[in-house]
Amino acid sequence: MTDFDIRRIAVLGSGIMGSGIAQVAALGGFRTALYDVDAAALAKNVEKIHASVRKGVEKGKTDPARAARAAELLTSTADLAVALADVDFVIEAAPEKLDLKKALFAECERRTRPDVVLASNTSSLMISAIAEGVSDPTRVIGMHFFNPVPVMRLIEIVLGPKTSDVALARTEFVSRRMEKETVRVKEAPGFATSRINALIGNEAFRMLESGIASAEDIDKALKLGLNHPMGPFEMADLVGLDTRLSTLRYLHSTLGETYRPSPIIERLVAEGRLGRKVGKGVYDYDAKGERVPGSGAGFVAR
Ligand code: CAA
Repeated sequence: MTDFDIRRIAVLGSGIMGSGIAQVAALGGFRTALYDVDAAALAKNVEKIHASVRKGVEKGKTDPARAARAAELLTSTADLAVALADVDFVIEAAPEKLDLKKALFAECERRTRPDVVLASNTSSLMISAIAEGVSDPTRVIGMHFFNPVPVMRLIEIVLGPKTSDVALARTEFVSRRMEKETVRVKEAPGFATSRINALIGNEAFRMLESGIASAEDIDKALKLGLNHPMGPFEMADLVGLDTRLSTLRYLHSTLGETYRPSPIIERLVAEGRLGRKVGKGVYDYDAKGERVPGSGAGFVAR
């Protein structure tokens, strides 16, 4: 096992994933700068991180001294130049838009040392496509986290054809410090996890379309019959229906017809029902984030 002198991490994007990544980075002992263009959203999301760290302590999962240290190590900024100053490792968690990511990576390359790894938390895009934004693609790697990041144990490390061995070793080092397990996957649309997860989720929506069962019963069937920790609709609401739709559109364009997004997902996204993060998706959620009993009843088999 190699150790690297990585002290400061920039996390770009403070949405569900970026916030969770910043939390585990700070808990891993890294000075962590969380960046977002939207200063108001950033302030709210930093509060959520502190609340989640406190929850980890209350549940006995996080050592109180480590939590206190993480609170000191975490900073936030709406200025990309500040986030990237003196940084040793970058993790991008911006929306799943290739052009946006490419532009962000180009900016990161300009503002960081050549040895700094530029990792993307993309859940499906090709690492080589994101790396088209930079002159040195050996620095670019995928670091795919899972929601909720502080709880889920895996990071799927995705290797582009030009990703260097040292970038991989540095990424595995950072992952270990975050107390995560890793797998190595060669780049391919959807990697190992999203490809299967999106397929199951889309198929569940297709079952709704044909009126085979209600959303609640499909969720219950997969939880109690197949031992999935969450049903596919609960999962879609957790991941975000807009994120799921972007993934499906990309997989449809690269892997073919199997991944054509269900019209129900398209409709829910058009109606702004994006999942838990906005309090409504397939199901409705109250102010505390608890699911409203009986919601999702728009999808009834009979
Ligand atoms: N910090 C640290 N630990 C925490 C914590 C926190 N803030 N909050 C909760 N925990 C711990 C709890 O102590 C508990 O630990 P034990 O199991 O050892 O008791 C564990 O996390 C679970 O917490 P809860 O009991 O509160 O919640 P739960 O049992 O209802 O499980 C869940 C919730 C973990 C989300 C579970 O339903 C689950 O695993 N669902 C599937 C999640 C999943 O598949 N995510 C991947 C989505 S795909 C993705 O993210 C990738 C993408 O590309 C979009």
